[in-house]
Amino acid sequence: MSEKTTVVVHPAKNIEGGIRLPGDKSISHRYAMLGALAEGTTRLDNFSTGKDCANTLECLRELGCQSEITQKGQTLSVTIQGCNMQLSAPQRALNCGNSGSTIRMMSGILAGQPFSSELIGDESLSRRPMARVIQPLTQMGAVIASAEGNRPPLHIAGGKLRAIEYDMPLASAQVEACLLFAGLFAAGETRVRGQVRTRDHSELAMRAFGLEVNRKLNEVSIRGGQKLRAIEGGVPGDISSAAFFLCAAGLFPGSQLVIDSLGLNPTRARLLDFLIQLGVSIKVTHLEELHGELVGTVQVEGGKLKGCRIAGGDTAALIDEIPVLAAIAPYTTDGIEIRDAAELRVKESDRIATVVRNLRAMGAEVEEFPDGLRVPGGQTLHGAQIETFDDHRIAMAFAVAGLRANEDTEIRGAECASVSFPGFFDLLESLTRR
Ligand code: S3P
Repeated sequence: MSEKTTVVVHPAKNIEGGIRLPGDKSISHRYAMLGALAEGTTRLDNFSTGKDCANTLECLRELGCQSEITQKGQTLSVTIQGCNMQLSAPQRALNCGNSGSTIRMMSGILAGQPFSSELIGDESLSRRPMARVIQPLTQMGAVIASAEGNRPPLHIAGGKLRAIEYDMPLASAQVEACLLFAGLFAAGETRVRGQVRTRDHSELAMRAFGLEVNRKLNEVSIRGGQKLRAIEGGVPGDISSAAFFLCAAGLFPGSQLVIDSLGLNPTRARLLDFLIQLGVSIKVTHLEELHGELVGTVQVEGGKLKGCRIAGGDTAALIDEIPVLAAIAPYTTDGIEIRDAAELRVKESDRIATVVRNLRAMGAEVEEFPDGLRVPGGQTLHGAQIETFDDHRIAMAFAVAGLRANEDTEIRGAECASVSFPGFFDLLESLTRR
């Protein structure tokens, strides 16, 4: 990790302005990997500026797929030279950094390559569970060795794969992506079933690259041996990054925020429903489709926030937005309860524990459960020193909580925000009225 930085967040009056956000992280990973497998050159505008997606590009370069990044202001464009399904054996370990998406999705691709590779990550990634991809990829014919407890590093001996029908034991879009990518290299039709719907970027991206992917309710399937053609396109703004600004604006009567070109894929936009339920005024305009992804402009006016309970399929749909929803919960009138969220314990940090710890540091009352937390409403928080535990979403969530605290809030280890959003703190400051 780079040097530790502390950012001080001062109490705010409200949030005002119009912004456009860097490209969606989930979509950027998928477009980069599919671009690498395609024939021809893929050009992507508004690619994610986060370190996670830079790690994906770096891994692909190590596998022989060259890419070039150009920066115009805050916006990145990327061109990727496709390798037409055939990557080259890497000369060194592929470093996925902090990125669970990179290691899990790349595993699916590497399982289908006729060479061995090693995937490594930083301290946080090295603690994260990989059995969820090791097990089905092994069933498909890959040979995978891992560190104790099915953690990275992963050594993958790829080769000929066979299609499987797989019932995912947990709701994970990363696992689904991994298996669909592996399915491209398998003989037969690979079917992946989930208990609940998760983000469907994989199938939309695969169709954009010319592949036939079939979806029936919670089952998605792909026939192996298909070819991909390169695309030229743009990546919608990242709604999980937008979440911090939407929640910040929602906190204050008098806030007025407009975010344009924002990804509004229905499998990702559940946050808007919950913000409306909490009492935030939201208007969506200028809807259009970009390679199957819904994009639009979102206008937000803050108000008095009520409360809500998030559980079941909603938790899976909101998984990356839960830290910020929990961080604003004390300021609602009725509080927020989150359940069925045990998966949060194996993200970049144990997000239930790190949210609870930091809310308590700010003086909040909060109840912790194995699968979630309950934060009563009507609380006043004081400033505190926030520990990010090198987790980007914890850093950004507590910057938002700090806006309505009574004193300054210090975010220690704030540099980790760059994993998904390098410009976050400057942008938040530019929108904050005091
Ligand atoms: C992602 C899926 C989610 C999410 C992650 C990105 C994706 O992870 O938390 O930030 O792009 O598919 P899981 O699939 O592990 O839930």
